[in-house]
Amino acid sequence: MASATRATPDTLPAWQTLKQHAHALQNVHLKNLFGDDDSRWTNFTRQVAGLTLDLSKQRWDDDTLEHLLALAHEAGVPGAIDALLSGKRVNVSENRPALHTALRLPADASLDVEGEDVVTAVHESLAQMECLVQRLQAGQWRGATGKPIRHVVNLGVGGSDLGPLMVTHALADYRPKGRHPLEVHFASTMDGSQLADYLGRFNPETTLFVLSSKSFTTIDTLSNANTAKDWLLGRLSTHGDQPSAAPLSAELIVRQHFIGVSASPEKMSEWGIASDHQLMFWDWVGGRYSLWGTIGLPIALVVGMDNFRELLAGAHAMDCHFRDAPMEDNLPVLLGLAGIWNVNFLDIRAHSILPYDGRLEYFAAYLEQLEMESNGKSVTRQGQAVNYSTCPVLWGQLGPNAQHAFYQLLHQGTQPVVCDFIAPLKRYDEVEDPDTRRHLKAQHRLALANCFAQSRVLMLGDDALDDEGPRPEHKRYRGNQPSTTVLLDKLTPFTLGALIALYEHKVFVQAVIWDINPFDQWGVELGKKIATDTQAIIDGEGDISRMDASSRGLIGAFWASEQE
Ligand code: F6P
Repeated sequence: MASATRATPDTLPAWQTLKQHAHALQNVHLKNLFGDDDSRWTNFTRQVAGLTLDLSKQRWDDDTLEHLLALAHEAGVPGAIDALLSGKRVNVSENRPALHTALRLPADASLDVEGEDVVTAVHESLAQMECLVQRLQAGQWRGATGKPIRHVVNLGVGGSDLGPLMVTHALADYRPKGRHPLEVHFASTMDGSQLADYLGRFNPETTLFVLSSKSFTTIDTLSNANTAKDWLLGRLSTHGDQPSAAPLSAELIVRQHFIGVSASPEKMSEWGIASDHQLMFWDWVGGRYSLWGTIGLPIALVVGMDNFRELLAGAHAMDCHFRDAPMEDNLPVLLGLAGIWNVNFLDIRAHSILPYDGRLEYFAAYLEQLEMESNGKSVTRQGQAVNYSTCPVLWGQLGPNAQHAFYQLLHQGTQPVVCDFIAPLKRYDEVEDPDTRRHLKAQHRLALANCFAQSRVLMLGDDALDDEGPRPEHKRYRGNQPSTTVLLDKLTPFTLGALIALYEHKVFVQAVIWDINPFDQWGVELGKKIATDTQAIIDGEGDISRMDASSRGLIGAFWASEQE
């Protein structure tokens, strides 16, 4: 990324040009930008790695794109891309590279980062992960009482949960057939809700926990892990269902029922994870960018290592495109610039992610962390307060369901919102029963029809309807809401990898233009510290008089409930 002396983006010439351009365009309705211009689809749609990116429903024209590309050049985007991919210390506040792209480099690639051959280390790590995956998938991993593992519970939160959770659900169709029955589950929330459910249903003899935490200090995950460990020790020390046998040692139980995944082997060993049941990753892999390595163990357990490597290959294909394609044809650059235009020049600061495929039910939640924990910043890399907007508020839900939840606001509310529609073109071809296949393919067409229709109505508003004459105001549609549509040829490990990498690099492009660091997350630290102080007070070990009246009242209400 550019040197520390770089001017802030709002002082760049292209930014000033864009401000004037936005003033000229701001009263031009999106439907008028379309008009009868058939070339708009070809002008604003690009394809790579099994993805089609349709940006034609953004509220921009050819001049807009030309000015935005000039802004990207002035902000140093091409050089920043090279710095990211080559392992420069782009994470300036933590003085480290951000090399999630190295995790998906093929074995014959080479990348030397400050004297370390990164590719060899990455593939050694993958090989170690593959050994654990094969043992578990073959039913060869035995619990402390000698039974094969049936349930694997990933204990992690944020980047140690959302990526594997999203991918395992998106690729559920890719479970290898006819192998040892292994089910993968996720427990993330500190309140124990998910874990309590598993502990109430699973047999401890056949349950393994993957303790996933880059820092190995996250209280959410350590709380779940300690509860799980005590559950195992309590239930297995008397040898499961054979109370007469000799008691099992805590060391054996922890060894056979925990795998650790972390950047801190010392802390894993200190907690009790057996060294040969530890998987490592590097501090230059950010948590929200980490599913491509050993944090992706749950993914490999569900879909197998071959499909996991296909996921990596799809992301690598997008990395190569990001590195090589000229900016005017570069999908992450174009997607990033559309966001800059919306946020900084059209003042649209709400962004909704709307997949029209139930397998992507966790995709919006994944992007919420990827985008808002990366770019929810207000200080430049030089430590200056920004005086322009950065990351929009981003949320989402399965599109078809959201049509029955918040589309009313999108169509008739007062908030300008930009929407990303995501859908696969092909689906259900492998369904064997012809009648079921026919029905499901009809439902796929129904979902596509809704996906395409919604972006059309958001664009055209009332003009989407043939003229039916005057309608009362509460039945009128303003339209003019911009959107992007991403089509996947088919949802496969490869195209999913490319899709995720598309958004990772889009986030990076925007961070470069906003001159912010997308790879740290200092904003989440204070909440954790205050929570620790508050917990001490709730536990009667701190001074409640220091708290504000609301906190005192809330804690008091809890204490009173304890007396009932
Ligand atoms: O939310 C803060 C955060 O540090 C995220 O960046 C990270 O993905 C998550 O907590 C979990 O952190 P760890 O993997 O270190 O437990």
